Amino acid sequence: MCVVTFDFEENDAIEKVKNFKKKKTLSWVVLEITDACNINCLWCYANAGYAIKRPRKHMPFENLKKVLKLLLDAGVKQITFSGGEPTIYPRIKDAIKIAKDMGFVVHINTNGYVLTKDLIREFKYLGLSQIQTNIDSINPVKHDFIRGMPGSFEKAVRCLKNASEVGITAVSQTVLTNLNEKEVIDIFRLARDLGVHRCRVWDMTPSEGMAKMNINLAPTDYLKTLENLYEYGIENGLKRIETGDPLFPLERKLSVEVTGGFCVSYHGASTTISPHGDVFYCATYRKPLYNVFQDEIEVTLDKFHKERLSEFIKREIDLPPPCKKCAFSETCAGSCIVRRSANPFSIDTFCRFIQVEKTIPRNL
Ligand SMILES: C[S@@+](CC[C@H](N)C(=O)[O-])C[C@H]1O[C@@H](n2cnc3c(N)ncnc32)[C@H](O)[C@@H]1O
Repeated sequence: MCVVTFDFEENDAIEKVKNFKKKKTLSWVVLEITDACNINCLWCYANAGYAIKRPRKHMPFENLKKVLKLLLDAGVKQITFSGGEPTIYPRIKDAIKIAKDMGFVVHINTNGYVLTKDLIREFKYLGLSQIQTNIDSINPVKHDFIRGMPGSFEKAVRCLKNASEVGITAVSQTVLTNLNEKEVIDIFRLARDLGVHRCRVWDMTPSEGMAKMNINLAPTDYLKTLENLYEYGIENGLKRIETGDPLFPLERKLSVEVTGGFCVSYHGASTTISPHGDVFYCATYRKPLYNVFQDEIEVTLDKFHKERLSEFIKREIDLPPPCKKCAFSETCAGSCIVRRSANPFSIDTFCRFIQVEKTIPRNL
């Protein structure tokens, strides 16, 4: 997941990073507890493709308990409930409570549509410590168009403001496209005015479904946008950058602490699990590595995950020829497999070091 997070306040997300640095084991998991959703985003990796081939499903609560136990035994530190829309999961309160009682750091990714201030307070009481909600434009009409739901801007803004006022870490996320890359600093400003603690961007990853169909919306100058956000951050009290993008900052030396800088899926730090129990390489690369409910996991999930991940990497991830001599290939590993899969030469065209014309075979 090539997510880049600009931290303006301290928060407990650092725990998972420390855990991974120390143990090099699976440390955080995005649990998609439902694939039902109440909005319809332009670029959603979960909304089309994989999900529409099966009926919409909530993860049965018994299965949720089972998977949490496996993750606990594997040494996972943080659970992020996602979906679909996790707030419409019928037992979302029980899910938060049980995960917290087991000792996980518990976060949620939500469109905030059904979250009142009282409900956020209750979630906090049950153990939730972070809420992430998208702001995709400062223009409400544009935001609503991107999210495919009238009124979603108002709900998102209210959710982030309420979360901050209640004392939960509030995270704004922006899916970067050419529709909003020029206004993303204004989005950060708006988010900070709402009391948001962490501002996050994720380039529109051209995964299956809606995102692939809308590939013409990809950002035009992604790395430059990240640098502009960093400059904005430096002038406005930025404390740390957590980056899952192998291309950022790469060779650049930044003057704040940086954690990550590699693909967290490739390096086995994080994974995503669907309501059906499918464990994906990445939320946006939805080919199952295995299934937590169907496969017999006789060892710890961490060991099992490492084995399946390594088989998958051997099978599916070749270093592209232009990357073979690159000094950064060990951490970068050819960069994002999904961005690469959208390119006929299997390269990540965002990389500054790749000379695209040199990779085109002469006989084409
Ligand atoms: C699938 S949603 C699930 C959680 C919740 N319904 C929500 O709206 O946040 C998770 C988030 O992933 C991000 N996302 C979805 N599709 C994406 C894509 N193709 N590229 C990058 N980020 C994407 C968006 O920020 C989206 O809000």
